[in-house]
Amino acid sequence: MSLNTIAINQRMDKFDSHDSVWLFGYGSLIFKADFPFLDRRPASIGGWSRRFWQGSHDHRGTETHPGRVVTLAPEAGAICHGMAYLVTPEEFAHLDHREKNGYLRLATEMHFEDGGSAEGIVYIATHENAAYLGPASERDIARQIASARGPSGPNSEYLLALAQALREMGKPDEHVFEIERHLAALGVRQPDA
Ligand code: BEZ
Repeated sequence: MSLNTIAINQRMDKFDSHDSVWLFGYGSLIFKADFPFLDRRPASIGGWSRRFWQGSHDHRGTETHPGRVVTLAPEAGAICHGMAYLVTPEEFAHLDHREKNGYLRLATEMHFEDGGSAEGIVYIATHENAAYLGPASERDIARQIASARGPSGPNSEYLLALAQALREMGKPDEHVFEIERHLAALGVRQPDA
C-alpha cells in the first residue's frame, strides 16, 4: 500500500450524503480537535485495542528517525475508550490530509458513554501500510518515543498528553500508562509532575 492514503480515503463515500457524521477519536483527537464539530461525547468501540504501533514520519518523527503514534489492533473482547465528534462530511478532507501517512477510514459502531450508539468513522492504520512499525515492548516503545521529534513536536509530548487525557476521562489504558512509566524512568515526565 502506498504511504499516502488520501486518494483511497476519498473513495470511502458511505457518509458523503449525510448532514453530519460521528467520528471516533482514540489518539490525538482526544486531546486536540483542530477542526469544528457540532457535538462531542465520550464513547467506546468494541473489538479493538489502542497501540503505539504506527510509525510517524510526518508529525512526531522524521523519515530517518520515525516516532510512534497510536493505531487500533483487533482484539476479541477488548474495548477502546475515546471521544466521538459529530462533524460535517467536509471535515474528512482535512482529516484525510492530516492522517495521510497510512490511516484508512473504517465504518464502525460506537457506543456513547451516556447511552445510545451510532455508526460512524474511525481512522485505522493496519499492518499493510508502509509506515506501520508493529508490536514492541513498552520499554522499547518508550525509548523510541523519548528520542523522536517531528514537525508537530516531541513524540513524548503526544504520549504524555494522551495519558493525561485518558486519566482525566477516567479511562485507564495499561499500554499507554506503562509506556508513560518507562518514559518517567528515562526522565521524561508530565510537564507539571
Ligand atoms: C485519533 O486520534 O483517533 C486518530 C488516530 C489516528 C488517525 C486519526 C485520528
